[in-house]
Amino acid sequence: MIDDAPAPAGGRPGDWRALWAMRRYTRKYHGRLLAMGIFELAGICLTMGIPLLVQRLIDGPLKDGDFSGIVWLSLLMLAFALVDTVATAYVRWQQGHVGAGIEYDLRQDFYQHLLSLPAGFHSQRHSGELVTRFTDDIKSIRRFGNFGAVFFLVNSASYLVMIGVLLYLYWPLGLLVAVGLAPLLWFCYRFESRYGELEDEHQEQTEQLTSQVEESVTGVTLIKAFGQAGNRAKRFAATTGQLRRISIKQAKLIGGVLAAISLVPNLVLLAVLIAGAYAVAHDAITVGTLVAFTMLTLSFNWLLEVLGWILQLAREAATSSARLEQVFAVQASVRDGEQELTAVRGELRFDNVRFAYPDAHESVLRGVNLRIAPGETVALVGAPGSGKTTLTALVPRFFDVTGGSITIDGQDIRELTLSSLRRHVACTFEEPTLFSASIRENVTLGRPDATDDEIAEALATARVDFVESLEFGLDTRIGEQGIALSGGQRQRLALARAVLAKPRILVLDDPLSALDVHTEAAVEKALRSVLGGVTALLVARRPSTVALADRVALLHEGVIIAHGTHKELLATNAAYRNAMTTDAHLAPDQEPLEVK
Ligand SMILES: Nc1ncnc2c1ncn2[C@@H]1O[C@H](COP(=O)(O)OP(=O)(O)OP(=O)(O)O)[C@@H](O)[C@H]1O
Ligand SMILES: [Mg+2]
Repeated sequence: MIDDAPAPAGGRPGDWRALWAMRRYTRKYHGRLLAMGIFELAGICLTMGIPLLVQRLIDGPLKDGDFSGIVWLSLLMLAFALVDTVATAYVRWQQGHVGAGIEYDLRQDFYQHLLSLPAGFHSQRHSGELVTRFTDDIKSIRRFGNFGAVFFLVNSASYLVMIGVLLYLYWPLGLLVAVGLAPLLWFCYRFESRYGELEDEHQEQTEQLTSQVEESVTGVTLIKAFGQAGNRAKRFAATTGQLRRISIKQAKLIGGVLAAISLVPNLVLLAVLIAGAYAVAHDAITVGTLVAFTMLTLSFNWLLEVLGWILQLAREAATSSARLEQVFAVQASVRDGEQELTAVRGELRFDNVRFAYPDAHESVLRGVNLRIAPGETVALVGAPGSGKTTLTALVPRFFDVTGGSITIDGQDIRELTLSSLRRHVACTFEEPTLFSASIRENVTLGRPDATDDEIAEALATARVDFVESLEFGLDTRIGEQGIALSGGQRQRLALARAVLAKPRILVLDDPLSALDVHTEAAVEKALRSVLGGVTALLVARRPSTVALADRVALLHEGVIIAHGTHKELLATNAAYRNAMTTDAHLAPDQEPLEVK
């Protein structure tokens, strides 16, 4: 769950407030919704008019044997029915239109919001949760928003009109109907609170299910390798089983309410018939009035059934609204600055930088001081988990420092617009992420306007040589429906992507980790020429990577404890020797892998 606070049982006012807030998505359609309401109301009034015509027919032309009167009244009834049909068709058509519009706007907003959220938000959550919100929840809001609310109002208005008509026809019977239907309100209230709880559980389980499927698909190799397919299947069966139980409970509840909703009016109808017959026998009303009364009471049944259905829609939409609002309520923690970063010299400075992850008790960085001169390359070394990746993520502002500051050419990066900052700072990540798209699209992510020559240059720099041998070259798709790449190939593509952006500042999180010795040497050579012109912070875990840098900074327990060359640090610093574990066999006086 994104928000773990338990909802209060019963009234669940938060859900309804959230649903009310969703009216911002119907604002555009108020005109259409109003028209729909009027048409629907007109339709219902016409339906109610038919019993009144029947009353006239029975008490007038039928009794008097007036044939032309019968024809006229019948034609009028036909006209009523036809107009009602047209009105209903119009309402359904508009319903589709409005629904599609609401769904579109809500999706757009939600997606935009997801993209604006801090990087940490997504790393802490299963994407399954968000997928369910994106699909199921938006749909249920659409179902209610496109007409449910209007229908509810129209429906309620129709009751009042109907009761009014009944009271007008013969008030004692009208009163009987009005009082007889009162228990239904209580049923509806009970239904609302119970169904709400079940709906919450239902959505939660659906989220879990989506997450499980997603994890199993992405981690299928792992599951097989550890022989966990059986266990996974059992877990899945438990979740689907739970979902089934909830669905059955919901169906039972709806069944019960529908039964009450149809039983009560039928009992009322029975009372109307008995009391009505008595009234006719004593000449208090005509037979026509009794028939009209009966027909009207019968059409109540239909209206009430619709009410049950609307209540269910409303309840689902309220739960879904609350779930979407929880995500909407998460603010982008990184605020856009106002100054454009132009003409960068490239001095990158960390001044007493502190950082703690949101919700974490301990700080990862506790006062990092580091100055990287324009054009200089600094290798950042530290034990696993010491905060190297964290420090690199602060430069493009995936997170903001919680203390101290980071400056580029003396300007605090929080004052800069994110777009200009990220144009001048390019990154690669520990796990190179590639989209299911063509190689071209993947490489030009930061610069969609790059020419083929520029792309070729970047690919050559990153030693992405395998593209030439592919049948479709740059247009070959990667990932789903495309070719699979090895770890090293992915890393080189990610490097080409960063290089293509021609940044002044490069932040590379261990760019050579997945390369074999042979390719590593080749990429290093290329990197060396790239690094020559830019300011670079390079997370390094191997001496060969360190060799690319002008200077090494050692991160330990949240601070930079030492600077120097690889050789100096190896000779003087035990923490450094530890961090360079993979090459611990290198003696202090031995040079790291030399690349010329
Ligand atoms: N999104 C996150 N939320 C909370 N804590 C995090 C998050 N990412 C990392 N951490 C914590 O911050 C600390 C530093 O992690 P970081 O990934 O920066 O280390 P690292 O030096 O890059 O390690 P490695 O060499 O293994 O890549 C770790 O203790 C980790 O548990
Ligand atoms: Mg890391």
